[in-house]
Amino acid sequence: MTLLPTDPMATADTGDATGDDVAARVAREAARRRTFAIISHPDAGKTTLTEKLLLYGGAIHLAGSVKARRAARHATSDWMKLEQERGISVTSSVLQFDYAGCKVNLLDTPGHADFSEDTYRTLIAADSAVMLLDNRKGVEERTRQLFEVCHKRRTPIFTFVNKCDRAGEDPLKLLDDVEKDLGITCAPVTWPIFDEDRFVGVYDRLTEHVLLFERGESRGAQQLATIEGGLDAPEILEHCSPGALDKLREDLELIEIGLGAFDRGKFLAGDLSPTFFGSALTNFGVEPFLREFVQLAPPPGAREASTGPIEPTSPGFAGFTFKIQANMDPRHRDRMVFVRVVSGRFTAGMDVTLARTGKPIRLAAPQSVMARERTVVDEAFPGDVVGIVDKGQLRIGDTLVEGSGKAPPQFRDIPRFAPEHFARVIGTDPMRRKQLDTGLAQLTEEGATQVFFSDPDVKLGSGPAPIVGAVGQLQFDVMLFRLESEYGAPARLEAIRHGNPRWITGDRKAIDKFCERSGRSRLYDAKGNTVVLFEDRWALRTAIEQVARDGNAVTLHDEAP
Ligand code: G4P
Repeated sequence: MTLLPTDPMATADTGDATGDDVAARVAREAARRRTFAIISHPDAGKTTLTEKLLLYGGAIHLAGSVKARRAARHATSDWMKLEQERGISVTSSVLQFDYAGCKVNLLDTPGHADFSEDTYRTLIAADSAVMLLDNRKGVEERTRQLFEVCHKRRTPIFTFVNKCDRAGEDPLKLLDDVEKDLGITCAPVTWPIFDEDRFVGVYDRLTEHVLLFERGESRGAQQLATIEGGLDAPEILEHCSPGALDKLREDLELIEIGLGAFDRGKFLAGDLSPTFFGSALTNFGVEPFLREFVQLAPPPGAREASTGPIEPTSPGFAGFTFKIQANMDPRHRDRMVFVRVVSGRFTAGMDVTLARTGKPIRLAAPQSVMARERTVVDEAFPGDVVGIVDKGQLRIGDTLVEGSGKAPPQFRDIPRFAPEHFARVIGTDPMRRKQLDTGLAQLTEEGATQVFFSDPDVKLGSGPAPIVGAVGQLQFDVMLFRLESEYGAPARLEAIRHGNPRWITGDRKAIDKFCERSGRSRLYDAKGNTVVLFEDRWALRTAIEQVARDGNAVTLHDEAP
């Protein structure tokens, strides 16, 4: 049995620790957790940066292994096969490593073909996010979508401008564009140093140190040798041309003028983004980022629940489920449910209450969801994520709490996010319609898919074939696979062209007027909420402007109200 990576502080603990010892330990362990996710557009370098963070975090000694994982993840069919081979998915998970006394949890946000609602939900389990940008492309579509989810929740966001080893947009212009596009202020913590257009290092504005990197072999498989010192240090003057340092001083002056002192309050409220420059491929700037990241990133904080905020140090374990990974092996129906620990100490085999039903549940075989192997977890602390093997009791957004009070606290619901693809589900075996409806109902409840109807009075089991919505195409593939293998209901999809949905709220008449005037099609979600579809982003933008001009009689939401 393997435990989470060895933690010197953890091994000192024994099962007969007193309540005070446990409380003190929970406080200590929570304070050193840093739980974050990377948000980026495909190809910005997320896989490469992840790998380099692991390299500097000491979790791997030679970069190159994560890449293979990504290759396997790329194609849908491969992903399915992988799932079948391993019984249960390890493709999207949590990476944990130690750095400078902190335990860093990097939550993998599925991208590319496996982009799904899970990607959004994972952000809700993170305490901060790193927005990774390509230095030529700046903010791209996917970055924007993921940023919005974080920004709405006031999640603190770091920015890492990647690929500085090759010519890109002028850094000042790039940051200006980010600010205009996203409405967040970028506060450079590191700044790139170019020597005759060659990226040679970064300046750390917090330590006031220059860091020059000696480029190793081309793909940065190992940690880089670094020369570090003040702007006037002899070793810096020896290795960097006066021209490069003059340009750096000029840039720093410009940044200084435009930016006051670093405001931690604004950062924690998600309005100011500490910004870093580097190159994940060559490792340039990765360590300075990690160094400042663990200093600046917040440890786990309080989470709102029905009974008020729950602090990491609130008595007893509490956590919420944010992702369910179905087992793609038809012989094993169990599913892996990802639980984010919010308070207290989680221990293997503990009895908890499922707040939604008030029923007890034993967390018998908790798994660490480390990317490369499934290992059994002995204990976990606020900020950690554990995988629970479940036979179908749990749903997305469930609260698990220690103890059995009458009205256990429940964390705020995890919202449903606007799907990007819609399709009608056509059962290919007319005799199995009932099974199809049962499957769709259960998959919707679990959070694996979203069902919509064209008539508010139609529910599953009646009327025409229901419409399903998914954030990513893979969500559809998994849904069809599960309908057939778990419910014996083979089905096919008939894509519908509509997209860009928004939930609409307001006075019934105002909603009718809005839809009639704009000729919009409407759908109803499983809870009966009205959803309006738009042909494209332009139509959506025009509608948003129109709503404002009309005095906001209706409101459009990108998450279910
Ligand atoms: P993703 O997970 O965000 O999709 O990105 P990934 O890390 O796979 O990187 C996408 C491409 O960008 C890869 O090139 C990768 O090598 C390159 N890349 C990542 N970081 C840097 C960087 O700092 N500088 C430069 N110049 N390139 C970078 P590829 O051609 O798609 O793959 P490969 O042939 O390099 O493996």
